[in-house]
Amino acid sequence: MTRYLSAFAVAIVVAVLWIRLLPARPLPQPMHYNHAVHTEMMDCEMCHVGARSAERAGIPQVDLCASCHEEAPPNISTAQWEQVVSDRAIAWQRVTRLPTHAFFSHRRHAGIAAIECTTCHGDIPTRTVAVTSAPIHLDMAACLSCHAEEGASDDCAACHR
Ligand code: HEC
Ligand code: HEC
Ligand code: HEC
Ligand code: HEC
Ligand code: HEC
Repeated sequence: MTRYLSAFAVAIVVAVLWIRLLPARPLPQPMHYNHAVHTEMMDCEMCHVGARSAERAGIPQVDLCASCHEEAPPNISTAQWEQVVSDRAIAWQRVTRLPTHAFFSHRRHAGIAAIECTTCHGDIPTRTVAVTSAPIHLDMAACLSCHAEEGASDDCAACHR
């Protein structure tokens, strides 16, 4: 009996390490995108409206894009652009994502505490192609290590609601 139990325990440990150590699976984006071109001329909040004032930063949709790009932007075919404009939606994938048991607020961090976006999102603002994985994985240890440095909360219930 113990023999089977320890084999079972080993299988669990292997499975957990496997999931932890594997690089994140890339999430293909539905369309070409270039942050560098836009961040040179626009503030992040023009597109990520809640980034300093709400819980979620949000990802912009085609109505906003079309306010400048009446015609297909460079590197996007007219057919693809006409399609997204008529669908009025682009199926952007979120690459930074916490499990539902963890609570996070942009207002608290990028607003009140004025932490730079790049501290948590790395070089995304200077990317010239769409982002398919998060440059920085924010696991619990990463949250807690900054909280310890900044004297912010380490109460389980602050982050797990
Ligand atoms: C404030 C105006 C503005 C908004 C809003 C805007 N763009 Fe642009 N975009 C530009 C300008 C200016 C360029 C430079 C090329 C040009 O003149 O078309 C550009 C270039 C691009 C390019 C070409 C990048 C490359 O690699 O050459 C793509 C793709 C693009 N935009 C997509 C989008 C999408 C998708 C959105 C919405 C999420 C968006 N844009 C919102 C002004 C804007
Ligand atoms: C013209 C609109 C526009 C501007 C301005 C813009 N972004 Fe974005 N952002 C997008 C789009 C579209 C996506 C989704 C496609 C992608 O991930 O490449 C995105 C994705 C992101 C993501 C990934 C979100 C996720 O899924 O985890 C981050 C982080 C981000 N942007 C940060 C920034 C920062 C920081 C700035 C300012 C320095 C900025 N963006 C300016 C349009 C914009
Ligand atoms: C202290 C770390 C931290 C800072 C600073 C930060 N973010 Fe985030 N961001 C996150 C986390 C964590 C998520 C995932 C949230 C979730 O899944 O609930 C996220 C998600 C996002 C997303 C995906 C869409 C969404 O709303 O979930 C965008 C876009 C984004 N951030 C943009 C920004 C921009 C722009 C700034 C700067 C103004 C910024 N972030 C500052 C940690 C941060
Ligand atoms: C780079 C530093 C940094 C990182 C990384 C960071 N935080 Fe924070 N966090 C802070 C600071 C500073 C505050 C206090 C802000 C204020 O004054 O309200 C805070 C406050 C909070 C609060 C409010 C706590 C309370 O007292 O109610 C929550 C919840 C929170 N963070 C969750 C997270 C989560 C979840 C992550 C990881 C995904 C994270 N934080 C990553 C710096 C950080
Ligand atoms: C500053 C925010 C923060 C605090 C404080 C915090 N956690 Fe977490 N915790 C997280 C985040 C974010 C995740 C998701 C990690 C991921 O996606 O890898 C997480 C994940 C977990 C998990 C799931 C297992 C795992 O590692 O993914 C458990 C269990 C957990 N936390 C328990 C606790 C307990 C118990 C405390 C108090 C001693 C606590 N947490 C305090 C942010 C926090």
